[in-house]
Amino acid sequence: MQIEKAGNNVVSKSPLEGVGGCNYIIKNITQLVTCSGFSAKHGQAMSDLEIIENGMVVITNGVISYVGTSSSEIPVSNPENYEIIDATGKAVLPGFIDSHTHFVFGGYREEEFSWRMRGDSYMSIMERGGGIYSTVEATRETSETELIDLGLSRLNNMLAMGVTTVEGKSGYGLDKETELKQLRVMKELNLLHPINIVSTYLGGHAVPKGFTENSYIDYMLQEVLPTIQKEKLAENCDIFCEKGVFSTEESRRFLLKIKEMGFNAKIHADEIVNTGGAELAAEIGALSADHLLQVSPKGIEALAKSQTVATLLPCTAFSLKEHYAKGREMIDTGCAMALATDFNPGSCFSSSIPLTIALARIYMKLSPEEAVTALTINAAAALGKAGTIGSIDVGKKGDLIILEFPSYRFLPYHVGMNCVKKVIKSYEL
Ligand code: NIG
Ligand code: FE
Repeated sequence: MQIEKAGNNVVSKSPLEGVGGCNYIIKNITQLVTCSGFSAKHGQAMSDLEIIENGMVVITNGVISYVGTSSSEIPVSNPENYEIIDATGKAVLPGFIDSHTHFVFGGYREEEFSWRMRGDSYMSIMERGGGIYSTVEATRETSETELIDLGLSRLNNMLAMGVTTVEGKSGYGLDKETELKQLRVMKELNLLHPINIVSTYLGGHAVPKGFTENSYIDYMLQEVLPTIQKEKLAENCDIFCEKGVFSTEESRRFLLKIKEMGFNAKIHADEIVNTGGAELAAEIGALSADHLLQVSPKGIEALAKSQTVATLLPCTAFSLKEHYAKGREMIDTGCAMALATDFNPGSCFSSSIPLTIALARIYMKLSPEEAVTALTINAAAALGKAGTIGSIDVGKKGDLIILEFPSYRFLPYHVGMNCVKKVIKSYEL
């Protein structure tokens, strides 16, 4: 696996070595999968990958400056300033976007995994003070430096699987100090590592001791969010809208307020019990409603009519031995769907893009085209970034992956295996 950098900004403490120049001409691309578009694709449109055979892409200063075929002249006047890559026999796609993870955390929960395999439920472990609460304790005790080291190694794994943008949530501190620590770690990692990190404040991941649901919501709104806003530590806020955590009414109150403050809303919705989280997400114009294992037909309808992306996390259902979300039905009803890993130390200790694709294809009945759309342009839309990433279009960031194989169809077919040969990642100026 080779990783190349496209762009101008030299990142001093990058963990990568052997990065290439800033400008690229990638030519003779057997299959150029552009996923062209600037907004989420709904329903049937998820099958349009806008493929160019014998394609060529030019990246100038980290930005895509040409997309077309290789039969035309090389469209630059100074080709000597470009690195030329011959992609004969290869497919080229936009970099993958993992739009839902909790990758900054301290400690592990391997014992909890065994308890679950024995039959304990995810919620019963949390109710007896384990689960999320045990990662909260561990994360409070882990230093910022340690979290950065852990983060770098986790990001390296993601990059190797073709991830060029990742969303990361806080939510393993609950108190102001540790939530800010997690967000500051992500801000630092964004500078240290080529992957772009989009940060989400998930203070509403659980109710900490000494608070009621509502007094904790007040604490987040009055004590924590003003600092996050001032220091620009997050773009989005998320909440675990679930029976026994935050009710739909409490989630509505929180999310409407954070929207007033200028944050985008995301929701962990209808994961374990149906609480109308999908309907709430559509009603308030959330960027995404995530999980949705228990979504109702009404919830699916509401999402289909809205701009909210339905983000499905098949590796979590797999790890929890739950049934999969109704992906096929959602697309057929007209939803815009994204796929993400949900990488976290509890419900899904995996950041595997190949496993995500395999499960979506085999058990959620997505076509290979839909799976690709769900990890690129629709995932970008789930982060409010479909205008700048998620497709190979002129003007977008030069974030691309080159597969080992001549077609995107190898992604689900090469089950659970990494098909990514090379990642070209643009750095921001
Ligand atoms: O998305 N469901 C809530 N939050 C995470 C799991 C967090 C954890 O178990 O640590 C999820 O699955
Ligand atoms: Fe999650």
